[in-house]
Amino acid sequence: MVYIKKLSEHVDEKVTLKGWVYNYRSSKNLYFIELRDGSGICQCVVARDEVPDEAWQGAESLRQESSLEITGTVVEDERSIGGYELQVTDLNVIQVAEDYPITPKEHGVEFLMENRHLWLRSQRQWAAMRVRNEIIFAIHTFFQNEGFIQMDAPIFTGNAAEGTTTLFETEYFEEQAYLTQSGQLYGEAMAMAHGLIYTFGPTFRAEKSKTRRHLTEFWMIEPEMAFYDLNMNMDLAERFVKVIIGRVLENCENELNILERDTENLKKAVEHDFPVISYTDAVENLKSDETAQMLDDMMESRKQEKEDLAKEKEELEAEHGQAKKWRKAQIDQRIKDIAARVDQIEEDLRNIPEWKKSAREFEWGADFGGSDETILTMQYDVPILVHRYPAEIKAFYMKRDPEDDKLALAVDMLAPEGYGEIIGGSQREDDLDVLLERIHEHDLPENIFDWYLDLRKYGTVPHSGFGLGLERTVAWLCGLHHVRETIPFPRMMGRLRP
Ligand code: 4AD
Ligand code: MG
Repeated sequence: MVYIKKLSEHVDEKVTLKGWVYNYRSSKNLYFIELRDGSGICQCVVARDEVPDEAWQGAESLRQESSLEITGTVVEDERSIGGYELQVTDLNVIQVAEDYPITPKEHGVEFLMENRHLWLRSQRQWAAMRVRNEIIFAIHTFFQNEGFIQMDAPIFTGNAAEGTTTLFETEYFEEQAYLTQSGQLYGEAMAMAHGLIYTFGPTFRAEKSKTRRHLTEFWMIEPEMAFYDLNMNMDLAERFVKVIIGRVLENCENELNILERDTENLKKAVEHDFPVISYTDAVENLKSDETAQMLDDMMESRKQEKEDLAKEKEELEAEHGQAKKWRKAQIDQRIKDIAARVDQIEEDLRNIPEWKKSAREFEWGADFGGSDETILTMQYDVPILVHRYPAEIKAFYMKRDPEDDKLALAVDMLAPEGYGEIIGGSQREDDLDVLLERIHEHDLPENIFDWYLDLRKYGTVPHSGFGLGLERTVAWLCGLHHVRETIPFPRMMGRLRP
């Protein structure tokens, strides 16, 4: 058995492929089967005169997603999907599939989510999972090359690291337990044993947010480094993200094509420095006249684009009547794309005035909302690092800025193109007494942190770390609007199945 991905090594050879019917069409004495085997798609041509009768009957019985074995000669064919074609000499049906619910016609996203177990077979979903895999591999490679040790934090925990409001509670025999929302506190203990560590595990948040950026179960990568200050932390985060993007660009060209991802900005992110901005400067930026002007200009250019698209649509509709069949299909596709773009523009036209208002009225001390992040990042094509947030809105474990006690030595990385925060991190408070004070200020029970406080008693050192959200990173690199398509079986508010 040969995998489609490896067909280039078998040109002019006879091979057997095993897979499923992705698509098919027939003419009188020919069947064109697009076979998918998990590694790729290959067009297989069955000619009535070239195969035994049973094979021809088998081909005639095929339906979408039927499973089969197929034997034939590999020929190079540039026009063919994947660049190779199989000239079939034999074919053996394993199962004729029942009517497959996901047909090439369009389906609503709710229907597709209900059928996530099957939707995973579709090309775009396939491509997104391959990019996810590449990102995971790149993450491990990066840290392993840098001398980090991968260690796992527990999923059941007895302590609420960042407050209890967003924790899933569960029963642990007779005790109250929570599902972890971050491996960080354990990561700190592990860093004191190994110096450089990273965790890679599922984390859980019971936030009642139904946004395109929120899952209730997501995967987080959390490096923790002894003897790192905030600057070293930020440098590492930037190098890390650059390597991930570089690897995806290098190894996922086909997948990014399938996803129709414009890679211009991704290439820029590999090559250019990420702007580093303090929270205070970011607030000033939000409130500035320049930003208000930028949003006004954006409104104008969106309106203009909408008019241009309306005109183009009219012209296309006028052409449609006399057009040839192939051209009609082209026109239909373009009209569909225009409709989708106009929907987006209308959403922007509704949103931008509100964004402008909330940016103008933003007050120092508040947390950035999704629209504030979008406004800040759309001024750059590459991610930005925002540092030194008001301590009040950040977690108890963050170290204060020695230059200004109101600020925490925190950093967030905000991705461009509206993808928002992909990394959150900080330098940690390493002084026992200050940390105790913070725990009291935050009304956290001291006794559950006894082990964590030990780290400040026995050889405390400056240390830092951050957490990267895997799904938001996949969404950004794939150009997917919603994180629900970045994980095999998403868990979000209102979705626990399949
Ligand atoms: O900013 P967060 O909450 O940081 C922490 O949990 C720290 N303890 C990390 C550390 O310093 N070790 O989360 C980190 C990242 C976010 O930037 C975001 O990318 C992702 O995790 N994230 C989510 N992704 C999907 N759905 C959610 N509900 C998410 N919440 C956070
Ligand atoms: Mg955060």
